[in-house]
Amino acid sequence: MKAVVMNGIGGTEEMAVVDREPPTAALGRVVVEVAAAGVNFMDIGVRQGMAWTDVPNPKVLGVEGAGRVITVGDGVDQFSIGDRVAWVYEPGSYAEQVSVRADALVKIPDGLDFRTAASVMMQGLTASHFATDFYPVQPGDVALVHAAAGGVGLLLTQIIKLRGGQVIGRVSSEEKRAIVREAGADHVIVDRDGNFADEVLRLTDGEGVNVVYDGSGPKTFAGSLASLRRSGTFCWYGPVLGGPGPLDIMSLPRSIKIGYATFYDHIHTPDLLRTRSRQLFDWIESGALRVTVGGTYPLAEAAQAHADMESRRTTGKLLLIP
Ligand SMILES: NC(=O)c1ccc[n+]([C@@H]2O[C@H](COP(=O)([O-])OP(=O)(O)OC[C@H]3O[C@@H](n4cnc5c(N)ncnc54)[C@H](OP(=O)(O)O)[C@@H]3O)[C@@H](O)[C@H]2O)c1
Repeated sequence: MKAVVMNGIGGTEEMAVVDREPPTAALGRVVVEVAAAGVNFMDIGVRQGMAWTDVPNPKVLGVEGAGRVITVGDGVDQFSIGDRVAWVYEPGSYAEQVSVRADALVKIPDGLDFRTAASVMMQGLTASHFATDFYPVQPGDVALVHAAAGGVGLLLTQIIKLRGGQVIGRVSSEEKRAIVREAGADHVIVDRDGNFADEVLRLTDGEGVNVVYDGSGPKTFAGSLASLRRSGTFCWYGPVLGGPGPLDIMSLPRSIKIGYATFYDHIHTPDLLRTRSRQLFDWIESGALRVTVGGTYPLAEAAQAHADMESRRTTGKLLLIP
């Protein structure tokens, strides 16, 4: 089967399409024929050696996808051959077939296609956690959403609006403004260098926002702090793009609360995975949540998908189609 591996830590030149033996279904696992594999910023982090370094190279990239079960291992009783499934936080999805722990799988409802399901496992579950658990948005709350046209950003914007909040979206280029407004954002700030706080304060009559969701690297950190109102919440979530470095807790302004929201902590049991993905699927089926696939690529063009995501030109979800 074809698969996209990283040969070593580095840039996209470390990525290669190879032929590999198809996986077999070990105890507690199933093999899935991949219909769509999600591209996530986390995959860039894995390629750069920031995560999953315990899996030896060359290793197959990708942590998310959707497809059909073709083999079921011993000890698996919830899934059968032919089931339509999606998964997340399982290595090896940039391939024609992948072996997945049954605990990392959810069934896809009949009304949803593979591409839609593959689009929301990482970014959708992350966005719903941010707006419902990390900081449960209340009607009238104002949120600042960075990279608002991206995979997490477009879904987060819509979920905040579903909960009655207001959204100020920040994007790096004028071309992204329309798609963020379409997702429901009340205001869009175009800024590439971290100069957005004055505009946030102007839009909120000097008050600042209740919550900022920032996974956009060191350049936005100070502006995000300055954008918060008294006792506001800072949801930081960008380990790949990097953080502010060591923080003196006494330098934090206005009694804010700050934390690092990471996927592994918010979806840490199969029950949570299934409950939260069911809610996302329900929102999509009812029309409350729209999934925007901003780009599809054949497996052989996975390196291009990474380059595009890093270039800051993409919007919505990027998918690889084996
Ligand atoms: N903690 C978690 O659990 C978790 C889970 C999923 C994702 N994430 C993080 O969420 C963020 C978005 O992930 P995604 O998969 O949805 O990707 P994405 O938002 O679809 O694409 C990345 C976006 O980040 C911005 N960006 C890219 N390179 C940048 C750079 N060098 N400096 C500043 N901004 C840059 C760009 O938006 P603009 O150009 O418009 O700024 C770009 O469109 C990433 O930081 C990712 O690591 C965290």
